[in-house]
Amino acid sequence: MIITAQQHILRQQEQYFPEAGGTFSWMLSGITLATKMIQAKIRQAGLLDVLGSAGETNVQGETQQKLDVYANQALLHCLGLRDSVAILVSEENEEPVRFERAPETGKYIIFFDPLDGSSNIDVNVSVGTIFSIFRRPSKSDQTSMSEVLQPGLRQVAAGYVVYGSSTILVYTAGRGVFGFTLDPEIGAYVLSHDNLRMPQHGNFYSVNEAQAHTFPPQYQQYLANLRNGELGRTYSSRYVGSLVADFHRTILKGGVFLYPPTNGYPQGKLRLLYEANPLAFIAEQAGGAAIDGQRRILEIQPGEIHQRTPFVIGSKAEVEAFEQVSQRTSVSR
Ligand code: AHG
Ligand code: MN
Ligand code: MN
Repeated sequence: MIITAQQHILRQQEQYFPEAGGTFSWMLSGITLATKMIQAKIRQAGLLDVLGSAGETNVQGETQQKLDVYANQALLHCLGLRDSVAILVSEENEEPVRFERAPETGKYIIFFDPLDGSSNIDVNVSVGTIFSIFRRPSKSDQTSMSEVLQPGLRQVAAGYVVYGSSTILVYTAGRGVFGFTLDPEIGAYVLSHDNLRMPQHGNFYSVNEAQAHTFPPQYQQYLANLRNGELGRTYSSRYVGSLVADFHRTILKGGVFLYPPTNGYPQGKLRLLYEANPLAFIAEQAGGAAIDGQRRILEIQPGEIHQRTPFVIGSKAEVEAFEQVSQRTSVSR
């Protein structure tokens, strides 16, 4: 018996968001539709003139790949048509995109990384889309950023799609984590990972080793401990360079992914609102953990929409081992 993402989301809505009255599932259908459009372009990337850069740079100062632009347009278009969406915040847009909605209609704010791992597009390596959904505070001042700058604990839902050997949507609405595999025959996401749980520990660590000499000491000590068997297990190193692909392996197999502070990115490279927050919500819902080196990612009060954060996410055993090394290293300094 197949359960589609649409049916699953409707069931979750009836159970947990009855007050939403269908707007929540209608909004999520905007995301799933956009990701189907994106994956269709990705699957033909070599054939269509979508490879390579669009010649522009985005707010991050990074060269925009054509698929970045296409993915961003697809999400802005599909979600802009959902009345329940009041504000969209995209990695590719400097400012939030606001829609004129009555407060009782425009109930949600959605953050997204339309195409994650875009440097991998031209070499046919998995890329992804990440999204994070908040309720718009009832008494919110439309001009202030306060309604947009909420801590990750207030997310109502979060998810990602990994465009890999198959296209898989993983999402949580705060009641467990569920994975759906796109069945190209019927064009629907079908439930394939019911109540996904992250293993309590793993045998993989995932970090860009080329920067290791510039990591702060506690990260270097922790990685040395993973390599020398200090945690009582042997580890393999895996690093795809697409956060969504590295995280998807971590939630299925366990272990840890890190993007520490580096000389190039003193605050870490990954963005809090549309990379770290959604994956941290999913990790905790699956029994894992996610910190910025000191604090839970979900407790961070954002200061600006494109802010970056150091990121350590994965199985409880590996994240707690990092916290212990971090405490010992800070005490000894
Ligand atoms: P994006 O393509 O959305 O800018 O994200 C790229 C990120 C993330 O996907 C990945 O984990 C990280 O960049 C890799 O960075 P390095 O190449 O510095 O390791
Ligand atoms: Mn990204
Ligand atoms: Mn991106």
